[in-house]
Amino acid sequence: MGFVLATAGAAVGLGNIWRFPYLAAEYGGGIFLLTYLILVFSAGFVLVLTESALGRMTGSGVLCAYEKISRKFSFAGYLTFITPLIIFSFYSVVGGWVMYYALQFILGNGTLLADSAYFSAFTAEPVIPAVFTLIFIALTAGIVLRGVRRGIEKTTRLLMPVLLVMLVILAVYCICMPGGLDGLWYFLCPDFSQFSAELVLAALGQMFFTLMIGSGVIMTYGSYLSKGENLVKSAHSIDFFDTAVAILAGLLVIPAVFALSGGSPETLGSGPALMFIALPQVFSTFPLGGLIGAAFFLMVFFAAVTSSVSMYEVAVASLTEKFSISRKKAVLGITAGVSAAAVIVSLGFGVLDFVQVNGMNILDMLDFLGNSILLPVCSLFACFAAGWILKPKAVIDEICSCGVKFRGQQVFSFALRYLVPAAILIILITGLL
Ligand code: ALA
Repeated sequence: MGFVLATAGAAVGLGNIWRFPYLAAEYGGGIFLLTYLILVFSAGFVLVLTESALGRMTGSGVLCAYEKISRKFSFAGYLTFITPLIIFSFYSVVGGWVMYYALQFILGNGTLLADSAYFSAFTAEPVIPAVFTLIFIALTAGIVLRGVRRGIEKTTRLLMPVLLVMLVILAVYCICMPGGLDGLWYFLCPDFSQFSAELVLAALGQMFFTLMIGSGVIMTYGSYLSKGENLVKSAHSIDFFDTAVAILAGLLVIPAVFALSGGSPETLGSGPALMFIALPQVFSTFPLGGLIGAAFFLMVFFAAVTSSVSMYEVAVASLTEKFSISRKKAVLGITAGVSAAAVIVSLGFGVLDFVQVNGMNILDMLDFLGNSILLPVCSLFACFAAGWILKPKAVIDEICSCGVKFRGQQVFSFALRYLVPAAILIILITGLL
């Protein structure tokens, strides 16, 4: 249960509540959801299972794990080591925004946030978003350094059910608002004319991001596991729970956008801004909107912290193990690096907004690089390590240790060696062309 909770804590975060709804909104709603579900319950399951087995088998952080698998393959460990840090450098910026929004609600400024121009004005500001980003990073570093992860996980364990209940209530409210049903329809009914290679790449990137596949998190957490754990059940639970939260967030944000727009939901394509614009407007229609807004953003903040702690842990566990340095040195080094990167990402919305490639600002670029390229590539390495270097039998033996039953072993072997890597490669190549 500890592994499931810790990994679910790592999985559920901004990816589910902030990122999934805006991608679904942007890529045609139902068709994005359908593609995403197919990916999560096929390739996602195989990859979560494989990476947790690799972690437990090697008992190491990613740098040493790949070295143990094959010396020649140790470069895969370095790429897997750097990837969550790249992701963390924009994740912490969004984490900072969430903290700031929570604080504003607590201070009773919720109505200010409901103004649709507020978000872009706030993020374009050079100092405050960067300061909140740095506070978010310092908190994460502090938790990892002081080893209070358990405390934070306990808190999340308590808050997660509250977040779920809140999401359900808010989703029902938004669906019942005039126009909300159109949003529900948009989110649930696939419109096949919207299908595109780009959509599949976006859904794939989202799957990797939210399940933390390819980031070394599952391998690192898996390395702390005992042989008795049922990895199959754990992989199912993580997939299921994480998807449930994402769907609930979609059921909340998309109907809200439809309801608030009075039938012309032009904000559907607002990307990363969507949650920060739509939800304060919904909260402003409640009698106790400020309180609900504060509670909601605080819970999103806690969910974000458990995810960022896991990304830090990948790097810290690997550095301390590989270079025999103290935890403190590892944390300080990582903090210096990601803080510098995150401040640049934050400034990408204001003074550095001229840094654009194909209409993407710095955050979008790192998001694309991390989620749509590096995580899939690192997962290909994990598949190669498990399916071709170690061979599926070794992975299955690991999964079945202590008499755990695992049906569908042949399908798993085939998927691990051929199906999943081929699908990732095809999606990557067609999506990028
Ligand atoms: N898996 C983490 C999230 O979804 C990164 O927020």
